[in-house]
Amino acid sequence: MEKPLPVLLDGDPGHDDAIAWMLAKASPLLDIRAVTSVCGNQTIEKTTYNAQRVCALLGIDAPVAMGKPAPLLAEPMNAPSVHGQSGLDGPVLPEPNAPLSSLRSVELMAKVLQESETPVALVPTGPLTNIAALLLAHPELKEKIKVISLMGGGITHGNWTPAAEFNILVDPEAAKIVFESGVPIVMSGLDVTERALIFPKDFERIRKVGNPVARVVADWLEFFYGFHREIGYTGAPLHDPVAVVSLIRPDLLTSKRLCVEIETQGEYCRGATIGHDRKPANALVNFDIDRDGFADLLVEAVSTYGEG
Ligand code: BDR
Ligand code: CA
Repeated sequence: MEKPLPVLLDGDPGHDDAIAWMLAKASPLLDIRAVTSVCGNQTIEKTTYNAQRVCALLGIDAPVAMGKPAPLLAEPMNAPSVHGQSGLDGPVLPEPNAPLSSLRSVELMAKVLQESETPVALVPTGPLTNIAALLLAHPELKEKIKVISLMGGGITHGNWTPAAEFNILVDPEAAKIVFESGVPIVMSGLDVTERALIFPKDFERIRKVGNPVARVVADWLEFFYGFHREIGYTGAPLHDPVAVVSLIRPDLLTSKRLCVEIETQGEYCRGATIGHDRKPANALVNFDIDRDGFADLLVEAVSTYGEG
């Protein structure tokens, strides 16, 4: 069997970030080398604490480092309406079982890249602040990045404004740096993530698996589903896990290579991801997902966790 792909998880947990990390930890194809928090769904203090609690729940024993406290240029913007005041409302979680890394996110990511014998996949599931800061501080490490598989954007529409998706809107300057970096990018935006819908029948299957992780994931999904039903969705769009699916089950996805450019100036369209073929492609953009296959994958993943 091939060696697992080293990955760095960078996110703002967040229910769907946490479920993305659950998928990553469950997969024998991935080796989580570090976890970094970013300011997005909640303040950096809250997302960092949540990252530590999620790692404790999932048994992720990689170092966890605190990320940038604010976007590169913009004022911070949070999403308590989606994820609650804690940033991860719902079931009770274990307290952190390891201290935070003494390094900050960019230093830790750089160290992991420098020390890795093989190129590493970055999986950002929040604003791209830390990733852009890494690329600015360490351009020499680009060749150590195999791919940036990110959740963000939407070619056809936004969710926080008509034109922009939350992760890109929070830090469009960072997104521009990442998309113009020349590093291979897989973009899972709203085009595909709003098709990764989870329904009560799915979270009841997950709950029946019965282990502690399965119970928490089912509760997270129920929380996330409740919020999205209130605002008119038919199910819970599991955005962030699609960035992990791209690495472990690309066969579930339909994609297209495009040039994706980031709008940083527009009065109405700041944070938009403009996809087109008038220039060379810089990203593989996911557009569709085998929804039932995705739901099965979540059930298989939670089933790998034990009783402890
Ligand atoms: C993105 O915004 C956040 O609230 C979610 O965690 C996801 O990363 C979807 O727009
Ligand atoms: Ca997120």
